[in-house]
Amino acid sequence: MAQEYKLILKHADEPGYTRDIECYLRHGGYDVLKKTLAMAPKDLPDGKKKSPQEQIRDDVKISGLRGRGGAGFSCGLKWSFVDRKSGKPIYLICNADESEPGTFKDRQIMYKDPHQLIEGMVISCFANDVHLAYIYIRGEMVDGAKILNEALKEARAKNFLGKNILGSGYDLEIHVHRGAGAYICGEETGLIESLEGKRPYPRIKPPYFPAVLGLWMCPTIVNNVETLCNVKHIVAMGGAEFAKLGTPNNTGTRIVSLSGHVKKPGYYEIEVGKATIGELINDPKFGGGLRDGRKLKAVIPGGSSAKVFKAGEKFKLKKKSADGQMVEQEVDMLDLPYDFDSLIAAGSMSGSSAIIVMDDSTDIVEALANVSEFYAHESCGQCTPCREGSLWMSKALHRLTHGEGRASDADYLVKIADNIPGGRTICAFGEACSWPVQSFVGKFKDEFVAKGKADEERRAKENVQLVKATPPERHELATAH
Ligand SMILES: Cc1cc2nc3c(=O)[nH]c(=O)nc-3n(C[C@H](O)[C@H](O)[C@H](O)COP(=O)(O)O)c2cc1C
Ligand code: SF4
Repeated sequence: MAQEYKLILKHADEPGYTRDIECYLRHGGYDVLKKTLAMAPKDLPDGKKKSPQEQIRDDVKISGLRGRGGAGFSCGLKWSFVDRKSGKPIYLICNADESEPGTFKDRQIMYKDPHQLIEGMVISCFANDVHLAYIYIRGEMVDGAKILNEALKEARAKNFLGKNILGSGYDLEIHVHRGAGAYICGEETGLIESLEGKRPYPRIKPPYFPAVLGLWMCPTIVNNVETLCNVKHIVAMGGAEFAKLGTPNNTGTRIVSLSGHVKKPGYYEIEVGKATIGELINDPKFGGGLRDGRKLKAVIPGGSSAKVFKAGEKFKLKKKSADGQMVEQEVDMLDLPYDFDSLIAAGSMSGSSAIIVMDDSTDIVEALANVSEFYAHESCGQCTPCREGSLWMSKALHRLTHGEGRASDADYLVKIADNIPGGRTICAFGEACSWPVQSFVGKFKDEFVAKGKADEERRAKENVQLVKATPPERHELATAH
């Protein structure tokens, strides 16, 4: 039976737990940092020594930790790409933009246990020879910024930050930087541009891989809030022990944001892959099931950009049998383990680990129109396919949801969506705005066609010409929020 497993959120919701440093210290806070700074170089068989920094980086690799921001990229591997020979300073940025619709996990950490994030950051910075780091927090999280600044002040006062931390000779400063309310600032290179004081236009990779050419063209690590908190636990328990949590290649825990038509929406921390989508939706320990009398219609498994699953969908997944052979198994969508690899194998992703549940009361065309309006509004506009395509899709969906649809709109939408991603755009927003359209229309095409057809029939009956649709123009979208 799936259980909650609280590693990151161990204390956050305990009665009486407060976010001030004294409470954190009473719960063993900053002990792992003390252990880190007291680490000695390790003797190697060839007579050489491995520095404490290298030991931590190795441990993070061994832990199998994958980024919790969206792409699920190996944290240890990302750190190994950092150019340590450039002679330039290395920066670390905590991505606290958390803007993917449906996602509300990073804020639980920042608002309730900010020192855990700071401790994770200081250890990560130490491991990577970073002396200046930033927390880039979503602009709307006004209180979050205040809380983090207060926590940083407390940490400085106790010398967990600043010059010569705890007498170790290591210096580090962390600053909070507030965004101004743009989703694209969550994309790491857009974030870096924004931090440099410019428009958050994502940069082309290559050459602008942050690990080599990041902030101020210096090597930079960008990691998500939850990822950085995990580093503290990896150092505390050791990489190999951490890797026992979760499932192979999907180690540790994840905080899942569960929203939509369930009885108990909320955030639930689980060992990765040790609960299925169905358990997260239906188990009384998690979502508690759908609202009474309702049936499941669809599930978005990883934030609004993840491809939607249709109730009853089946997937062929490769699994290891008892004798170690890889065998193909048919798995119902609800039985998919909630991990990185299973969801990718099923054609979607766990993304920012935000599950959005839709029951049979959902108008799927309206739901997609809502998602698409968001993406049309948030495209930064640098790439023509994304800038124009996201708006065309939103306009077509506006038509369909305002009585001006056409039966051919379904195909029209997919044609646009198919022509945005696949290397035609600078950043992954191209995929993010196309995947919902491809999957919603692909899996619920009959509803899109029926809506357009009904509009056509009504217009024919009333002898109304489709002269001009009236979708919002881009400037209207820009001011509508
Ligand atoms: C359009 C877009 C928005 C993103 N928004 C966020 C975000 O809000 N928070 C986040 O941590 N990562 C976000 N990411 C992923 C980041 O670019 C980056 O991969 C991540 O911060 C790396 O951290 P991780 O390796 O710890 O996951 C976004 C990516 C894209 C393409
Ligand atoms: S894909 Fe979209 S959001 Fe990303 S850089 Fe291009 S226009 Fe901007």
